[in-house]
Amino acid sequence: MNIDDCKLIKFKEFADPHGNLVAIEGIKDVPFNIKRLFYIYDTLSDVIRGKHANRKSEFILICLSGSCKVDLFDGINTKTIKLECNTEGLYISKMVWKDMYAFSRDCVLLCLSNEYYDADEYIRNKEEYIKEVS
Ligand code: TYD
Repeated sequence: MNIDDCKLIKFKEFADPHGNLVAIEGIKDVPFNIKRLFYIYDTLSDVIRGKHANRKSEFILICLSGSCKVDLFDGINTKTIKLECNTEGLYISKMVWKDMYAFSRDCVLLCLSNEYYDADEYIRNKEEYIKEVS
């Protein structure tokens, strides 16, 4: 549950003269069974999304097109990752604070999760988050 657990995972790319394909299976290619996916697009470049931590949800973030940045914070340490490669995904464990920003105009950010959406498991108050993890 700290940012050292959050790592980039490189996916196998099936490339041939016709184009490329990446396949992702739960447990095999990402460290959980996938229950939910959502994607973020047409985000204005000055917008910060995320700004929360999750009590239960883990995520894999894949920038399918364009680029964006992610700041991770575990209550002590901070890490910034630029996502710009559609063959790798950033694994984010639960109880890690995340901010996504610097979205390029063409950014499409795909997010996979181990949990169904439940607004109650989101911590959106940073003070409350810091209190909980310290
Ligand atoms: P939100 O979590 O605020 O997005 P972000 O943190 O990227 O700014 O979600 C935006 C809206 O979408 C909010 O009304 C809740 C809804 N939503 C779902 O219904 N299901 C989901 O899986 C997610 C992530 C959001």
